[in-house]
Amino acid sequence: MFTTALAQREKTQLGELPLDLFAAIQSLKKELNAVILAHYYQEPDIQDIADFIGDSLQLAKAAEKTNADAIVFAGVHFMAETAKILNPDKLVLLPDLNAGCSLADSCPAEEFAAFKAAHPDHLVVSYINCSADIKAMSDIICTSSNAVKIVQQIPKEQPIIFAPDRNLGRYVMEQTERDLVLWQGSCVVHETFSEKKIVQLKIAHPEAEAIAHPECESSVLRHASFIGSTAALLKYCQNSPTKEFIVATEPGIIHQMQKLAPDKHFIPAPPMNNCACNECPFMRLNTLEKLYWAMKNRTPKITMSENIRLAALRPMQRMLEMSV
Ligand code: 13P
Ligand code: SF4
Repeated sequence: MFTTALAQREKTQLGELPLDLFAAIQSLKKELNAVILAHYYQEPDIQDIADFIGDSLQLAKAAEKTNADAIVFAGVHFMAETAKILNPDKLVLLPDLNAGCSLADSCPAEEFAAFKAAHPDHLVVSYINCSADIKAMSDIICTSSNAVKIVQQIPKEQPIIFAPDRNLGRYVMEQTERDLVLWQGSCVVHETFSEKKIVQLKIAHPEAEAIAHPECESSVLRHASFIGSTAALLKYCQNSPTKEFIVATEPGIIHQMQKLAPDKHFIPAPPMNNCACNECPFMRLNTLEKLYWAMKNRTPKITMSENIRLAALRPMQRMLEMSV
């Protein structure tokens, strides 16, 4: 039988894709009593089918509150793992298990345990972009939207280790005027932006405001008139009278920016090379097709040992209490 290349592509070893993927996903959602949570860096189709889109703090809160039996997490592994830490009895699906995070990978558990042991009197504040093993070794978790607020609530005389992002850590140090011991991890995406190209864009678009995520290097942050988490950047663009923005974070967020402020113009901050490396290679592993297969086959699912889960839950709960 003759099969076109297109039809071949639409088949996988798992079976044939339905013609209307959106409808098929909606019907699987009912069947599983599932909620689809998506991060702002997901491809537009996934954002459009999600029940809830948010930054990592909003997604953790949504995962904590949901009554659904299953959580389909359109994001990266540490985000789905966070949902599982908060919901041990729910099925948590991640469309592609390889959707990791360079920040989480930059902090291996054994090395971090030695680092922590070398600073025995320090409190450990870890950015949520880390593995459950690192969370289990932490005292408080934070996200990019509450890191400053959380560190400000810790007594001044208490020494702190901040892991794993050195850029967010440096930003928190500046904002709180405190000295933190930084783990030297970073995000491949947020370290790719070119300061020179951002300055050139500002010259070419004198009315535009540059805005940036705190995972960017200080050479980029110094050109931003607003710095914040993905949700904070989105809110800023909506509320600001400015009509044009240079956006120094993963460009997936521009889909929501454009939807919420259709009269405004958003320019993605360019990477140093002529590559697409400002797109998160991990976030972009998820596709609508993989989301469908994950729901249909109830896999890949997130699992973890109960010991690690309980140890990781404690600092997560502290964060949720400290960021109400
Ligand atoms: P947010 O906390 O802004 O969602 O950031 C998560 C992230 O992975 C940024 O790279
Ligand atoms: Fe991790 Fe960076 Fe991707 Fe965010 S953008 S998920 S920090 S690799």
